[in-house]
Amino acid sequence: MKRLFVVLVVCGVAALGWGCTKSASSGPGAAASGPVTDQDDSGLKATGAPALAMGDPKHGADVFKANCASCHGEAGAGGGIGPVLKGEKQRKNYPAAIAWIKNPQPPMPKLFPAPLSESDVEDVAAYVESL
Ligand code: HEC
Repeated sequence: MKRLFVVLVVCGVAALGWGCTKSASSGPGAAASGPVTDQDDSGLKATGAPALAMGDPKHGADVFKANCASCHGEAGAGGGIGPVLKGEKQRKNYPAAIAWIKNPQPPMPKLFPAPLSESDVEDVAAYVESL
């Protein structure tokens, strides 16, 4: 009787341990890979599109005239203080331009979050990328 009990307990533990571990790893794993993949597909497409969508370069041109042209010159042609920004997209792509404008190296002043808002930065970055 005792032996049978031990065997039962060992089997039970084994079944719980391995059985559960196996089914646990394959269960949620399999379940997760389904929904997560689906979410990634739709989620990445949904969030990827707006992230890649550029700001409005027309408004950006106004922002540039008011805040940047004093150093970078009219249309980024160079104003003596800041470098020429023509062809800037070869140096910095759109996200990098946004990152720079939000957090520039001196002597370029930090103009975000004031006077430039998030959308001002996106618009002026889109404008700079178009130069
Ligand atoms: C006070 C003068 C000044 C103002 C105002 C200014 N900048 Fe600059 N900017 C600079 C200087 C100087 C640099 C170069 C800094 C360096 O390379 O360390 C620079 C660098 C940059 C660069 C990076 C150029 C590269 O080498 O890739 C970008 C992009 C830029 N500015 C955009 C802007 C935009 C957009 C605005 C307006 C929102 C602006 N700057 C306003 C002085 C200015």
